[in-house]
This record gives sequence, structure tokens and C-alpha cells, in this order.
Amino acid sequence: MTDVVVVANRGPVAFRLDAGNLVASAPGGGLAGTLRPLLAGTGTTWVAASLGEAARLAAERGQLDTDGIRVVAVEIDPADYAMAYDVVANGTLWPCHHHLFDLTRRPRFDWHWHEAWAGYRRYNRAFANAVAEAAASGATVLVQDYHLSLLGSMLSELRPDLSTVHFCHTPFAEPAVLGVLPTEAVGELLGGLGGFGACGFHTERWADAFRRAYADPELAEAAGTPAPPTFVSPLGPSPEALRDAAESPPAVAAARRLAEQVGTRKLIVRVDRIEMSKNLLRGFLAYEELLETRPRWREQVVMAAFAYPSRETMAEYLGYRAEVEHLVARINERFGRPGWLPILYDPADDYYRSLAGLAAYDVLLVNPVRDGMNMVAKEGPLVNRRDGVLVLSRQAGAWEELGSGALGINPFDVTATADALEEALTMGAGERAERARRLEALVRRRTAADWLEDQRRAAG
Ligand code: G6P
Repeated sequence: MTDVVVVANRGPVAFRLDAGNLVASAPGGGLAGTLRPLLAGTGTTWVAASLGEAARLAAERGQLDTDGIRVVAVEIDPADYAMAYDVVANGTLWPCHHHLFDLTRRPRFDWHWHEAWAGYRRYNRAFANAVAEAAASGATVLVQDYHLSLLGSMLSELRPDLSTVHFCHTPFAEPAVLGVLPTEAVGELLGGLGGFGACGFHTERWADAFRRAYADPELAEAAGTPAPPTFVSPLGPSPEALRDAAESPPAVAAARRLAEQVGTRKLIVRVDRIEMSKNLLRGFLAYEELLETRPRWREQVVMAAFAYPSRETMAEYLGYRAEVEHLVARINERFGRPGWLPILYDPADDYYRSLAGLAAYDVLLVNPVRDGMNMVAKEGPLVNRRDGVLVLSRQAGAWEELGSGALGINPFDVTATADALEEALTMGAGERAERARRLEALVRRRTAADWLEDQRRAAG
């Protein structure tokens, strides 16, 4: 894979300084964690933003390369980075693609925002220059996610010899929601994506929304370019890596701790980043409704909520976390009794504890309002040991593949979610086993390696 260049906001390793010493750790964000094992030992070049003082130091000392991956760090002015990552990528494009605009108040495209868009453009430009410099003649360039939407048109001008692919890990907004963006910005966005040789999505639904954007008269005029070829390639977990991790000593220890806390009660689990699209609030409200309207479940069930903080440089995420934690505290206060805490809430970013939860659930609740794929819905059925039932939002990308084995919910309907939890908790052993087997088989159809291979193939 020495002729392949992967481009993503985050690199394969995160660095921090501990008492002046450089410490390397696993990258944040699910995407970088998925890519790293796939690329290990392949000689692939990985172009990523240089994040912070420690990363700069690692670059200076030539310590960026890792696991046989050649890492190219893109220096971005910190103010440009904040504008590109916080304001545009996560503050505008993320809520746009997840249909999370709160149109009464946000977005507001004022002069600050337009300045941030210029920062996003410079961030993309810096990446384009770095790729143009690092890529061998005729190389395949695999660009990941909404942070880097403008790279297609930039690279087609700078290096027309490259085969470029963009893969979108989020949903893609419906044309009406895209139309909320300022005309010049949406034009640049679609023009940028239109410059790629191909654009990939986790599901046909997102690919279809993408193509319809270029068929919309106003958006098409703004884009000034036809839709590029699209392909659909659902990402799946790496089953062996997941099994090894689930059987490792820290996961076994975490499983023991969890078993002590849960005892003989039924266990509902959720594992999410604390993120508006994950719909934590309605998930807890549904659980509260279950306890309220079916009192026989009180003291008979525990919800383990492994919800780890995310993007905490942004006020919206901090505010959402506070709301989530307040709701959990209220429910525990209202229903808790000596010896029974209804919700075991743990915001530690502890992979092994999350795996222990996935191995032990009776019910896995995955209820995003909209989600590109949702890997938890796929990891659960691979590691679960109790024929657990998956309650899955029909708005998750994973629904397209897993729908026939899961209990589907409208994520906005709290009562329907409470009903689905009840149905899952009371399901007979035969049906549970049958569904668990079906889900596992559905998940095993697609691995992370298949997904990477599809991107290479799409590059032609
Ligand atoms: C999740 C999303 C990806 C995104 C990643 C970035 O995994 O599904 O679409 O690339 O988050 O997370 P970060 O922590 O880097 O903002």
C-alpha cells in the first residue's frame, strides 16, 4: 500500500506531554482507531493535522511514524484549526448532515462564521498542499470525512495524476437542509466533493441524498459541477481484533466488576460518545417511562450507560453533557433505593469497560436521531454472550443491514422506545437466540478490511 495516501483530521497516534516527556497514546475518535490497525505495517502514508505542542515536538524529533505507517503532519495555525474544526466541521457540517440544526436559534451565518469558513478553506488548502507534496505519482488518495470536503477540487487542480476518493462517515444532509447553508459555502462544499474521483457512503440512503443535492436546481447551480461517481461501502468491525480485546485481561476484570454491580438483574447497556446525535436524553427518558409505567421492573433491571465525553472544546457539547448528567441524577434520585441504582452512569473513556458491557447486555439500546453507521450496533452482536436483543434506531446507518435482526424504533418516540425496551426484556429465549444468531451473521458479512478495499477499488 505504499502507493496509498490516507488523509484524515486525526492521525494514528495522539501525543501529550507528561512532565516534559512525550507520551504517545491511541487516537481519539472512532475513525482513527478503526484505520490504524488496518494500515499497520502496510507502508501507507497517513496525512493528518498536527494537533498541539506535543505533536509538534514529536514531528521535530521524527517520532511520528508508527506501526509501519508513514505519518505526515500538517501544521495548521491554531486559530484556523479552531475555526475549521469547531465552527465549521463540528459546529456546522456535523449538525447539518445529522439534521440537528435548531433553526429557531442556529445556525447564524454572521461575519464571524464567514471568517470561520475562510479558516476551513485554509485548513483544507494546507492539507491539499501536504498531500500534493507527499503523494507519489499516480497515487491513490483516500480522504476521510466532512473536515476535508474541499480537497477534491483542490487536488484535482494541484495533482490531476492522483486518484482521489472521499469517504463520508456521517449521514449526508437532505437537499432542503443543505440549502440552509449560505449559497457560496454550499457551492464550495459540493464543488469540492465533486472534484473527487468518487465519493463513498456507509449506506445507499446517504449516497442517494448526496446525488439528489446535485440534482436540486439551486444547489446544482451553486456547485457548478456534476455529482461525482458514488459508491456504498458499509464499515464493519474487525471480528478477530474485537474478540481478542473482549477476551483480554482488562476486559475480563471489567466484566467481573460489572457483574458484581448488576447481580441477577436484567441489564440494558448503551455505549456512546456524549453527542447530540446519539440521543442520550430520549434514551434515558424512555427508561424512566419504563420504570414509571411498568413498576414491576423497578429493582429488576439496571441500565449501564457508558457515555464518554467528546469534543469538549465546544459549548454545545459541554451543555449537552450537563443536561445528560442532570437527567441521570434525577432518574436515580427518583427511583433509586438502597441496593439499587437504576442507571450506572460512567463517563470514563474506558474501552475495556465498554466491551464488558457489550459482552453482558440483555438489551443493547442504540437510538441515534441520525447516524452515519453506528459501530456499537455492530460490535455488540459480535461480543455479546447472553443472546442480547438489539433495540436500534431506524435512523442509524446500521439499520439498513441489521434491521431484520433488531427491534426497530423511531428515535424521537420515547414511548415507542420504552415499549421496545419492554419487548426486548420479556422476549422468549428461543427468539432471542434466533435474533442474536441472525445479527451476528449479518455483522460478519462486512469487515473493516472489506471497507478499505472498496475505497481502493473505487479509486480505479
Ligand atoms: C465519529 C464520527 C466520524 C468522525 C469522528 C471524529 O467517529 O462517526 O465521522 O470522523 O467521530 O471525531 P473527533 O473526535 O475527531 O471529532
